[in-house]
Amino acid sequence: ELFSDRQNSQGYNLAVAFERTPLLSSIRAFDDTQWQQQPLIGGKAVAGGDVHPVLSPYDQRQTVGEVTWATAEQATQALDIADAAWFDWNRTPIVERAACLERMAELMEQHTDELMALCAREAGKTLQDSIDEIREAVDFCRYYAQQARDNMQLPTRLPGPTGESNEHYYEGRGVFLCISPWNFPLAIFIGQVVAALVAGNTVLAKPAESTSLIAGRAVQLLHQAGVPGNVVQLLCGAGATIGNALVPDSRITGIAFTGSTETAQHINRTLAAREGALATFIAETGGQNAMIVDSTALPEQVVADVMDSAFASAGQRCSALRVLCVQDDIADRIIELIDGALQRVEMGDPQQYSCDCGPVIDERARSGLVNHIERWRAAGRVLAEAKLPDSCAHGQFVAPVAIEISDIADLGREQFGPVLHVLRYKANELDNLISAINGTGYGLTLGIHSRNEATAAYIESRVRVGNCYINRNQIGAVVGVQPFGGRGLSGTGPKAGGPNYLKRFATERVRTINT
Ligand code: NAD
Ligand code: ALA
Repeated sequence: ELFSDRQNSQGYNLAVAFERTPLLSSIRAFDDTQWQQQPLIGGKAVAGGDVHPVLSPYDQRQTVGEVTWATAEQATQALDIADAAWFDWNRTPIVERAACLERMAELMEQHTDELMALCAREAGKTLQDSIDEIREAVDFCRYYAQQARDNMQLPTRLPGPTGESNEHYYEGRGVFLCISPWNFPLAIFIGQVVAALVAGNTVLAKPAESTSLIAGRAVQLLHQAGVPGNVVQLLCGAGATIGNALVPDSRITGIAFTGSTETAQHINRTLAAREGALATFIAETGGQNAMIVDSTALPEQVVADVMDSAFASAGQRCSALRVLCVQDDIADRIIELIDGALQRVEMGDPQQYSCDCGPVIDERARSGLVNHIERWRAAGRVLAEAKLPDSCAHGQFVAPVAIEISDIADLGREQFGPVLHVLRYKANELDNLISAINGTGYGLTLGIHSRNEATAAYIESRVRVGNCYINRNQIGAVVGVQPFGGRGLSGTGPKAGGPNYLKRFATERVRTINT
């Protein structure tokens, strides 16, 4: 991969006015657009269940469009279609399937302005997050296309006795159910779907309830890119309705899930109890991610990386920093700098270039986070907090906050928002700290700030995580550069955007011929 001729997408540089100004005006052209999305079954948009208005998270008075949710019967009907379509799609040459992904990448680049408008208006993403979202989706398409061509196209000849030919090759498993979250409504949605498609599966794509408009637009583009309507179908709707209809059905041969640990555990239990064929389950879930900062670290660099890791995307990243563990000697200085940085965070309309922190996704998320913060405030533990301007009154905003804790075990489940917990530790408590981090059971990202290489290596080898970042921020894994995914309560692997991802979507075969 180091020597690959594939380039990750460049995106746009918002700091440069001649790139920013035309982009922003073409995004603004979608200000009055009302998107409509229905389930896409057998290549057709179908009416069906309830129609749900989509309200913008940053201003609940604004509607973005409406989504018709699929019924359980429609989900089963889509499964019948996907099952029947599998044989032909699986026999479609990999180069043709890969070409669909590459056309999809081009189409997303051509529709960057509309997709950015959707990211901002439907998901509340800032402009920078929206650009990064589209770049990641494009990179997934090109990376998996290349991986499929390089590693899955040709059979591997194996040794055997004279007169016998042995070949090992890959093919699709059958029908894949791809279930995605709202926080990367395009990148994760499309990453799962195109991986399953290029590996030779037909796909039932189930986006998160709150971000079905952008997912629907992506499926329309996939159809335009040449993926037939019976090969990829869109089932917008309630997780429980679609999940209860499909997960127990043994024609679902694989599930790619990204979302909360609790939902993954629920699906896992359903799969374990179902009759018939066993299914592949790929789960990418939450984190209780720590950063360990020792007394040799550079405070200014630490704080820049903490602000990014904890508060970018309003903390709504599975990779986000949740527990900053600072050696006692430099803790006061770090907290003072975090306080200063929090006072400068700009919150508001994510389509404004100046916005650093947009809203959280919905009222349920907001009230859960506010309850958590208020519990700690009542205990006198709030260290520093950003100011929420009046202009945020109609949106689902949570002011970024730092809270002091004395024990990681007090945290419980992941708080999915702009809430940073700060824990002081003494040099002789490092091993206890490592045990406490491992004791959460999660294992997604870890940040380390230390200028002592031996300390960094000691911590890295002992904390059980999927992605470890040393002396930098701990978010924003790049496709093909930082393959991403965790272990334990954080997921099963394989890592998205990494060399082993596609093969989990495929099944291996061996052909032996007596020649
Ligand atoms: P969620 O678990 O509530 O929902 C995820 C998806 O599962 C949605 O599409 C939802 O409709 C569906 N779903 C819900 N119940 C279902 C059921 N019974 N059967 C089938 N599907 C069902 O998660 P969320 O709130 O959308 O996303 C946030 C979570 O995702 C956080 O925990 C975050 O850490 C995690 N996440 C993980 C990664 C990663 O790569 N590890 C990436 C992004 C987000
Ligand atoms: N892949 C995303 C990140 O690294 C979740 O932030």
